[in-house]
Amino acid sequence: MPTLTILVGTMYGGALDVAEQVKPLFEKAGYTVAISEQPTIEDLTGAGDLVLFCVSTTGSGDFPGNFVPFVRSLKEQSPSLSKLRYGLIALGDSSYGDTFCGAGRALDELLEESGATRLGDRLEIDAMETFMADDAAVPWVDDWIETQQLMVAS
Ligand SMILES: Cc1cc2nc3c(=O)[nH]c(=O)nc-3n(C[C@H](O)[C@H](O)[C@H](O)COP(=O)(O)O)c2cc1C
Repeated sequence: MPTLTILVGTMYGGALDVAEQVKPLFEKAGYTVAISEQPTIEDLTGAGDLVLFCVSTTGSGDFPGNFVPFVRSLKEQSPSLSKLRYGLIALGDSSYGDTFCGAGRALDELLEESGATRLGDRLEIDAMETFMADDAAVPWVDDWIETQQLMVAS
């Protein structure tokens, strides 16, 4: 079975909750799913070439603390990620203005610079509009799996 790794960047657990809620959707589509709460570059170059990021923004457009070492390694090592295909769910709050989903957007840029390919659009979940992030994430993932034809033939 192919593996899908969900890399989580979270301060208060919202992004982790999203990862846990969408995990069964990938399992239903035929994936073995691993959730990484302390992401490393090895998560990107390991078994699967498909990953999903669930990343919130803190401070003023900053990465959550648990995600900072991962971003530092990505910048320092500049690995070639040309085989990597990824999806990105960014959590934020539009009341923060210009820094809305700043971490998710910055991550997207970094991954693109490393040669990775994003599948589909980035999902940005606005806490001002969506009280439960899963309400936005679950239908998006359902659609993502179908549109990107990620279903594993059984
Ligand atoms: C101290 C603090 C700073 C924040 N800064 C931003 C920000 O700059 N941009 C943004 O879009 N959201 C910001 N947020 C909103 C969070 O990203 C949002 O509430 C998110 O759902 C939290 O997810 P988490 O529980 O996974 O950390 C901030 C929230 C807090 C508490």
